[in-house]
Amino acid sequence: MSKFTVPDRVLYICTGSKCAKRGGKDAYKAANSYRKVLPRKVSLEVIRIECTDRCEHAPVCTFQPGNIWLKEYKLKHIIALIDELGEEKAT
Ligand code: FES
Repeated sequence: MSKFTVPDRVLYICTGSKCAKRGGKDAYKAANSYRKVLPRKVSLEVIRIECTDRCEHAPVCTFQPGNIWLKEYKLKHIIALIDELGEEKAT
């Protein structure tokens, strides 16, 4: 068994049909672009996932580690959380 490099944090964004219609797909693209301009010390990967069976709260996403879930979010909420995590990393 071999190891591979993993990011410090992962943002999983649901892009299932309900979440996609409510902004999940656009959020994925925007968050993925935004993370590329973050300082190098912030190791974040953005991964899109399929339905998490929480469609009534669409769009949903989750940050790991920490098990932080956002429901019915706006892009500004994701950006704010990414910035917050970046600040934690810098301290
Ligand atoms: S489509 Fe996102 S939770 Fe179902």
